[in-house]
Amino acid sequence: MTREEKLNNCVEQVKKLTDFVPRVALILGSGLGALAEEIETVDIVEYKQIDGFPISTVAGHKGRFIFGYIDKVPVVIMQGRVHYYEGYDINDVVLPVRLMSRLGAKVLFLTNAAGGINKNFNAGNFMLITDHIASFVPSPLIGPNMDSLGVRFPDMSEVYNEDLRGIIRSTARELDIPLREGVYIQLTGPNYETPAEIRMCKALGADAVGMSTACEAIAANHAGMKICGISCISNMASGISEKPLSHKEVQETADRVAPLFKSLVKNSISKM
Ligand code: HPA
Repeated sequence: MTREEKLNNCVEQVKKLTDFVPRVALILGSGLGALAEEIETVDIVEYKQIDGFPISTVAGHKGRFIFGYIDKVPVVIMQGRVHYYEGYDINDVVLPVRLMSRLGAKVLFLTNAAGGINKNFNAGNFMLITDHIASFVPSPLIGPNMDSLGVRFPDMSEVYNEDLRGIIRSTARELDIPLREGVYIQLTGPNYETPAEIRMCKALGADAVGMSTACEAIAANHAGMKICGISCISNMASGISEKPLSHKEVQETADRVAPLFKSLVKNSISKM
């Protein structure tokens, strides 16, 4: 099966399970999945119901699409994503993004937990993603171009849409939620970084580091979606903080800030 056939096959299976047409696709990162419980749900599709669909193995990640409404906006929420470090081909990692685009989603709202590199950040802060560095993971566009999705050499000069960023900024202001801004760098993981790697990331211009998101933004940009993203700074990165890093800390911080995060994301989406 070609990649395109595999995608078509997954799209067909989902369409048999729901005829919901989303406008906004939202990917919920580590520990941020609780938001999904607050939407007006219409349909749920478990990833395991879709033959050939990549399934996440990470603790704290559920594996399902939730279709429904946030205010009047039709959304599809991915509760749990797949990561490159799980061993999937990068094309499979972004298959869900392409699938949501094919179901009709025009906007992709990315969220993640990330390590703070910028010294002005603190654990628990939110960072509006202004741009990314994806040079340490393979591009999901490598291989024969999927012409039905987009062009061979897509422009990447404004991946994170300025209008959507404006909506998130003004929503944060209205809700009195402090919002940082910065560049997200994706590394492969699953190990956290060394202090020397974090110094490298800083020298390259990154403000936060994680193991997802940028490859999804590349696939979505290729497919013509409008993109925005927020990182929850779940910990300060290696060497910035004195403490050893743990997945437990990442989840605990995400849990602690979940209520604010939920209201920022929900209120932003209601204007999209
Ligand atoms: N590094 C990489 N990924 C992460 C981190 C980190 O410090 N925190 C949460 N995801």
